[in-house]
Amino acid sequence: MAQHISVLADEVIALADPQPGQTVVDATVGVGGHSTLIWPRIQPGGTLIALDQDPTMLAIAQGHLTDLPIVWKHANFEDLPAVLDELRIPAVDAILADLGFCSDQMSDAARGLSFQSDGPLDMRLDPTRGEPASALIRRLSEKELADIFWQYGEERFSRRVARQVVETRKATPIATTGQLADLVRRCVPRSRGHAIDPATRVFQALRIAVNDELGALERFLQVVPDCLKPRGKVAIISFHSLEDRIVKKAFRGMPNLVKELTRKPVQASEQEKRDNPRSRSAKLRVAQRRVDQDSPLTT
Ligand SMILES: C[S@@+](CC[C@H](N)C(=O)[O-])C[C@H]1O[C@@H](n2cnc3c(N)ncnc32)[C@H](O)[C@@H]1O
Repeated sequence: MAQHISVLADEVIALADPQPGQTVVDATVGVGGHSTLIWPRIQPGGTLIALDQDPTMLAIAQGHLTDLPIVWKHANFEDLPAVLDELRIPAVDAILADLGFCSDQMSDAARGLSFQSDGPLDMRLDPTRGEPASALIRRLSEKELADIFWQYGEERFSRRVARQVVETRKATPIATTGQLADLVRRCVPRSRGHAIDPATRVFQALRIAVNDELGALERFLQVVPDCLKPRGKVAIISFHSLEDRIVKKAFRGMPNLVKELTRKPVQASEQEKRDNPRSRSAKLRVAQRRVDQDSPLTT
């Protein structure tokens, strides 16, 4: 049974407005929550292409949406042009990317994403690509580690944690989430009145670095306009300011190609925030492909 609850589902459907016969890409299918809502709206005759970089999530989504003729692809969304080429689909009507990770990935100790349970320090969302967090922790210099903790986690004690990592690894390899969480908790004081674990920011930073999350998002946003039909829509849900900044900059940086449909990001209702704490930080931005570069849409 999947644990993940899809965020901003009504808002995505209202703004992306999938219609019968359309071709839609769910670039981050996860447990298939958004896809479940999109599929009936594009019938009859529609095509849903579901991507995930994590083969485990793809299998979970397939289990939920079994019997539906969805096109499943194990791929990083930055490779969307190659996926569409392979399918001989020149362009699509809508693309959704709901960034980050699913609750199911976080709660699986074997994935090494969580500091709440002990597991191997891996953190790769695509276990077939890149190097695990333990390898980064072993390989990077003290300065490189401090920069990651600061830039991707905004950890005020980034240098102290990096120094401690380098000291510790001289004696013992840091191979588990428990070891790293304990090390961070020794360096970062628990802020008074805050329930947040001191290891939170360092774990977020490492996950972003291991999966090159910001690089993949930037490359994806560069290729998105070419993958959309005229008037096709792209909807992106982000979960922290680093991602939202990239989405906003990309949409505003190509005014000849896309028009923003959300000047301000759409956020969850108070009710959704109460029901699903993960939705509290979610921000949805939607843009529409212009009809052609020289005649911008007026609507
Ligand atoms: C927040 S969950 C998506 C949940 C989904 N919208 C749902 O309703 O079930 C994010 C998913 O995106 C996947 N993912 C993250 N970055 C990706 C990327 N660059 N390419 C493809 N999939 C990615 C993760 O593996 C995870 O399964």
